[in-house]
Amino acid sequence: MSVKKVDQFIFLWFLAIYAPAATFCANVTYDHRALIIDGNRRVLISGSIHYPRSTPEMWPDLIQRSKDGGVDVIETYVFWNLHEPIRGQYNFEGRGDLVKFVKEVAAAGLYVHLRIGPYVCAEWNYGGFPIWLHFIPGIKFRTDNEPFKVSPYIYIYLIHVISNNNSKNLFLQAEMKRFTAKIVNMMKQESLYASQGGPIILSQIENEYGDVDWAYGPAAKPYIKWAASMATSLDTGVPWVMCMQADAPNPIIDTCNGFYCDQFTPNSNAKPKIWTEGYNGWFLYYGGAVPYRPVEDLAFAVARFYQLGGTFMNYYMYHGGTNFGRTTGGPFVATSYDYDAPLDEYGIIRQPKWGHLKDLHDSIKLCEEALIATDPAVTSLDPNIEVAVYKTDNVCAAFLANINTTIDVTVNFSGNSYRLPAWSVSILPDCKNVVFNTAKINSASTVSIFRAESLKQDVGSLENDSLGWSWISEPIGISKNDSFSKFGLLEQINTTADRSDYFWYSLSIDLEDGDDAGSQTVLHIESLGHALYAFINGKLAGGGTGNSTNATVNVDIPVTLVTGKNTIDLLSLTVGLQNFGAFFDTWGAGITGPVTLKGLKNGSTIDLSSQQWTYQVGLLGEDLGLSSGNAGQWNSQSTLPKNQSLTWYKTNFVAPSGNDPVAIDFTGMGKGEAWVNGQSIGRYWPTYVSPNSGCTNSCDYRGYYYQSKCLRNCGKPSQTLYHVPRSWLKSDNNTLVLFEESGGDPAKISFATKQIGSVCSYISESHPPPIDLWNSDTESGRKAGPVLSLDCPYPNQVISSIKFASFGTPYGTCGNFNHGSCSSNSALYIVQKACIGSSSCNINVSVNTFGDPCKGVTKSLAVEASCM
Ligand code: GAL
Repeated sequence: MSVKKVDQFIFLWFLAIYAPAATFCANVTYDHRALIIDGNRRVLISGSIHYPRSTPEMWPDLIQRSKDGGVDVIETYVFWNLHEPIRGQYNFEGRGDLVKFVKEVAAAGLYVHLRIGPYVCAEWNYGGFPIWLHFIPGIKFRTDNEPFKVSPYIYIYLIHVISNNNSKNLFLQAEMKRFTAKIVNMMKQESLYASQGGPIILSQIENEYGDVDWAYGPAAKPYIKWAASMATSLDTGVPWVMCMQADAPNPIIDTCNGFYCDQFTPNSNAKPKIWTEGYNGWFLYYGGAVPYRPVEDLAFAVARFYQLGGTFMNYYMYHGGTNFGRTTGGPFVATSYDYDAPLDEYGIIRQPKWGHLKDLHDSIKLCEEALIATDPAVTSLDPNIEVAVYKTDNVCAAFLANINTTIDVTVNFSGNSYRLPAWSVSILPDCKNVVFNTAKINSASTVSIFRAESLKQDVGSLENDSLGWSWISEPIGISKNDSFSKFGLLEQINTTADRSDYFWYSLSIDLEDGDDAGSQTVLHIESLGHALYAFINGKLAGGGTGNSTNATVNVDIPVTLVTGKNTIDLLSLTVGLQNFGAFFDTWGAGITGPVTLKGLKNGSTIDLSSQQWTYQVGLLGEDLGLSSGNAGQWNSQSTLPKNQSLTWYKTNFVAPSGNDPVAIDFTGMGKGEAWVNGQSIGRYWPTYVSPNSGCTNSCDYRGYYYQSKCLRNCGKPSQTLYHVPRSWLKSDNNTLVLFEESGGDPAKISFATKQIGSVCSYISESHPPPIDLWNSDTESGRKAGPVLSLDCPYPNQVISSIKFASFGTPYGTCGNFNHGSCSSNSALYIVQKACIGSSSCNINVSVNTFGDPCKGVTKSLAVEASCM
């Protein structure tokens, strides 16, 4: 090669390596209509996936399924306490590999909204704050407080400046700024901002401070101003938002969170209308029923938002996932964070939620050109009918809303007549034909089932004798040599620094003959929560637990004391630290008293509160590292202890075969934490049962939704099934370790795999045609009739049987359809013929296909099919 050719080669190589990055660099700004990416206003759909709530092995599928569902942006919080568990010691490994997650999103061609917080709420332990922050002298969180913003250790700083010039940053920079800057710099180093060619188009600072700022008084405003200018000073090249912050300073965009955000307007008409948290459902508490949100209402809320000028909305959560380990906040937030999201806890597509929202997203995108071209012209045909038209010389899109909660109406719009079901929005991308109505679900639905795994060793049951269990009893009371004594009762979180859920309070008292020893007395304990067990002379005497609305535990436990020495060992527990509310960081836990013995000596009471207690943070088994399964002297010779409090259990098991997601069913156990091959799958608590009332299986989607409107599972344990990510399993020789607090029978533990059962669809003659038939070039595509489509959920599957088919007036839900008074005789045969043996099928829902079993009645086709 000549020198010139080498030069050329190097030049071309250089271009090949560096030019793409330069070419894809996107300039992100905004105006009153939308985010503007490279000069173009964009209509965007976003979905929340919090990276630590799944595994890196799950990320690519979760992201791809989001993309397939019509999502353009993945939103995540950044979890400070995950990344900096000890001040200055960072962790970005495994589920904490934020850079990898952002790169996975980029690889799928999606954008990222990075909500750094660093306060995040999120039902995450302590709202995401590292507990060590709490111990910085003089600190006050989320307010105009120098230690929070800027370290208090000026004097230490001075000492350090003298001794070491480089320590300057460590002590002087704001804690909040330091972490925010750390994340921003990390993203910059990897060129992950859109301004650098990366996927991040938006970022958030703080979180819903506007909900609590009143409590922080005059210090609130300066804090928010500081946070805004701190964020902008980091120079990310992309806009920042503050959610629920009506006074967000320019250029920060204030955004809306809620079940509905159509009525929201930002604080300046130079800012776009953004919805950062549109709730798919709600989260689960231990002791609560399972919340769900009908997709017709969610689609209504989203359509209303885009109808009234919104251009960016985010589903909270698109995939909720799992609160592994001790990451849940609350207190009492359950380990499952399923959230009734379009992708369920295990990452499986939830139908018809995912599919109906996909159709909605596709419909909105058909209107994009009109939406970005102009503001909507909104008119009310009557107080319940609102029409929005986005019209220019070239394009026209319209949204017709009926916000009446019970009455369907027919309206006239531009010379045509439209039937609008109650609480629905119709979308007309050409101002003429309806492509989508929020109340009419074209998508098929599926029923997911948990299949209990049989007891055979090769399918992974633990109930096989040859696998066996071994166990270790956790000592009752003080057993570690780092215990200490103090007069009076100590607050728990300040003492444990959240190193463990567990905190022992121990005391011994001497009773002389005639001191009522032998007769019953009452041990009265008052605790800030969250749960406790009381042991008298080494035996469990009772306990109590708080709940999600009141964490305190006040108990009166009848006890019998003996002459001489009596030990009182109280085990107090936290169940996830408070994550929301003004000054939530100062809320205490543990036994703060009084603790009394009532009824001694003919009614006298001894107050034990200010006596000298001995304290132990955490369990001996935790210090020994029993959770890994490798350490400790496990006992397997004598009879397996059952219903025995404070017991560690261990077994080896074979993983359930196949690729279906795996759960452990903890029915039969009490409360504790479980580890699979050393990885914590979270706190289990199958004995915490939800209230008997308040549930409905057929929640009316019409009318405003609120978090307790639609609940399932009343009177049953809040959570019995716990996700074990496939990637944590080997085919055999897996270790399961449990720490059981209250007592249970490990032989009752079983596995379940999550599978899709039936595929169903219910389409009426008044449904719009499938969105895929919409073809902007041909009027006929838009005028096609309704079609029932079935698709097998997995590749290589075919429809193997039609369990139900009825054309007429069928009713019921998937798995539970019934024929109505009108039904065509040929429906089953026609559907079988069209579908069996194929992986998918389409059937026109029309009297031309089925004949007319009842003239003058709007008919529907309902089908339930199985795939194999
Ligand atoms: C919001 C908060 C989120 C999450 C949500 C409830 O107020 O911003 O982080 O906690 O509530 O799931």
